[in-house]
Amino acid sequence: MNDETIDQARAAELRGKLAEELTAAGYLKSALVEAAFRTVPRHAFVPADTPLEVTYQADSAVVTKRDERGIAVSSVSAAYIQVAMIEQAELKPGMSVLEIGSGGYNAALLAEVVGPDGQVISVDIDPEATDRATALLDATGYGERVTVITADAEHEVSGFGPFDAIIVTVGAWDLSPAWRHQLAADGRLVVPLRMNGVSRSIAFRRVNDHLVSTSAVVCGFVPMQGVGEHIDREFRLPDAHGRHVTLRFDAGAPDSPALLDGVLASERSEVWSGVTIEHGVSFADLHLWLASFLPGFCKLAADEGTELALERRTWFPFAGVRGDSFAYLSVRPALEGAGVEFGARAYGPHGQEAAIAIVEQLQAWDRHARRGPAPTFAYWPTGSHPDLDEGTAVQEKKHGLVTISWPMAG
Ligand SMILES: C[S@@+](CC[C@H](N)C(=O)[O-])C[C@H]1O[C@@H](n2cnc3c(N)ncnc32)[C@H](O)[C@@H]1O
Repeated sequence: MNDETIDQARAAELRGKLAEELTAAGYLKSALVEAAFRTVPRHAFVPADTPLEVTYQADSAVVTKRDERGIAVSSVSAAYIQVAMIEQAELKPGMSVLEIGSGGYNAALLAEVVGPDGQVISVDIDPEATDRATALLDATGYGERVTVITADAEHEVSGFGPFDAIIVTVGAWDLSPAWRHQLAADGRLVVPLRMNGVSRSIAFRRVNDHLVSTSAVVCGFVPMQGVGEHIDREFRLPDAHGRHVTLRFDAGAPDSPALLDGVLASERSEVWSGVTIEHGVSFADLHLWLASFLPGFCKLAADEGTELALERRTWFPFAGVRGDSFAYLSVRPALEGAGVEFGARAYGPHGQEAAIAIVEQLQAWDRHARRGPAPTFAYWPTGSHPDLDEGTAVQEKKHGLVTISWPMAG
């Protein structure tokens, strides 16, 4: 055996192990997607210097391009989310699928799933990404089975569609009307949608004048470029040493951010909720709950050297602003038993009120949502007629509304 055949054998072994791991975790569900995953050589689509162990990890995206600030703008997405999204799309042999965001690998998986009678169109806004994807698809024998197009996928892809599935593999803030127009009547639109800074890959199907979710998976993606780009508003709060804590708003940024000037110099307060969680238990839906219901919700980041950065293990990057003050989601060791208790720490003259607002939401999540079924989502294009029950959060988008419905217990 030469080095190359050893590597191929090792790659196949790692791929097989990863397939088992993804099945056990519930991401790989169908024989069709599993067969595709076991067939396509993922390592042939990542940069050549990527160690096989990284390529075949469940949750590692491999960055293929960064912008001038060093921020990732293209990647081969993490394996878990690629297979999860293909499962969400409910594809069958012979179907036609539009992939938005090209890397080659995901398109090759799709080509395996829809088979020789199916159709895969892959669109990317960046010619470097489409050149790269085309070359890799050719090199791996999928060139004839995937049509790669350079375009901003905010617009309809002329000459193709309607599609049985559209899989968006780049973080979207809104749903382009073109995606609904190009979707077959009973098709699936799978999209990593950012809702007040928190993302879920949501599979939507049409119901009358709107879309409703059929499933949702926690995810993170590089952001959309072009016409559909959404720019968050950031407020950088300096501490006494000129280091910054940053508050980032996806929506609903305060009208008077100057009220927060000097806020980090104030004494910090804290309020605890009595809501505890054991180590190792996921609470991803708590972030979505806060993004749904906490007034002034934003994301929090701290420069190295700030008081907050020194205590990184005691907080999560979610905060709420209240006028001249802000509070952020915190934990401390639980007073009884293993695990941690949730609460909030806060800066500013009204920090106590800001912390209480978070604690009230922690208690509401614990009482009504934590043990219940996961929330469901709907998208209401402008002009449609949304159903707004109790327990439904509404987020305004450019082309419509997203609703997040929490089945309320208690
Ligand atoms: C995560 S990568 C795609 C990964 C790929 N599907 C794979 O096989 O792993 C996201 C891609 O979306 C592209 N993108 C960003 N905005 C876009 C837009 N408006 N239209 C089409 N592609 C876009 C980026 O250039 C980037 O290459």
